[in-house]
Amino acid sequence: MARITAGLTTSHIPAVGAAIDLGKTGEPYWKPVFDGYEWTKAWAKRNVPDVVILVYNDHMSAFTPEVVPTFALGCGDEFPPADEGYGPRPVPVVEGHPELAAHLAEGLILDEFDLTLMYDLRVDHGLTVPLSLVYGQPERWPVRVIPLAVNVVQYPPPTAHRCYRLGQAIRRAVRAYDTDLTVHVWGTGGMSHQLQGPRAGFINTPYDKAFFDRLVSDPDGLAEVKHLELVREAGAEGIELVMWLIMRGALGAEVEELYRFYHVPGSNTAVGHLVLRAADS
Ligand code: DHB
Ligand code: FE
Repeated sequence: MARITAGLTTSHIPAVGAAIDLGKTGEPYWKPVFDGYEWTKAWAKRNVPDVVILVYNDHMSAFTPEVVPTFALGCGDEFPPADEGYGPRPVPVVEGHPELAAHLAEGLILDEFDLTLMYDLRVDHGLTVPLSLVYGQPERWPVRVIPLAVNVVQYPPPTAHRCYRLGQAIRRAVRAYDTDLTVHVWGTGGMSHQLQGPRAGFINTPYDKAFFDRLVSDPDGLAEVKHLELVREAGAEGIELVMWLIMRGALGAEVEELYRFYHVPGSNTAVGHLVLRAADS
């Protein structure tokens, strides 16, 4: 049987990807950000799963305003990096796991979560920056990745509650896969940030810190958070935080917090990162 043993959350700031690709991680502005991922990089070397289900959002790179799937599952063999206007990032092609993805598609759709299935998908900074933060700059990514793209860009995004329940359904579907596989689930995006309008640059550290605490110990309560609160308290782009609830739902009721990192600023964003172990793993 396949098992979800751990999960992590991390911001996906595009400028972080550029800092890595351009060799600037040691610069004074960036060093504190990258230092915050050293623990995780060492942990990730010791704990390599077979598959990562990587929950992220596309930023109008693969999708366009004409096609806006709420939840889109990457079912293909591989996912090349998207060209976001300055050429694709110089990172390896992401290798998928079509067998587990097909099983997830069946399990989740029959569990009444109507996913869009993607056999051709280019992945943007939302997916590749988290991989770079955790695995550095390898020739080949050390894990297979099943992308799960969530619409948080064009209104209306899914509710936090829907995301949490989708995570719980992912947990059920993974456990029903009868090949021994270790699976990690990543929730990306966040934390507080707003990129435009009069509140551009908005950061809310007390809200972010409480969000961390509630994600760990009160996910049922946190899943009740409404969009309006997230936008007001975490900024327009802070709505990305709903994706963290998919990860949390997939880990089961009890988790052990292994690592937490918070830093302001990273570009326009509060950088937030958490590593959790599923208590039953
Ligand atoms: C930034 C953050 C994001 O989540 C994003 O998608 C684009 C830019 C930023 O902080 O600059
Ligand atoms: Fe984003």
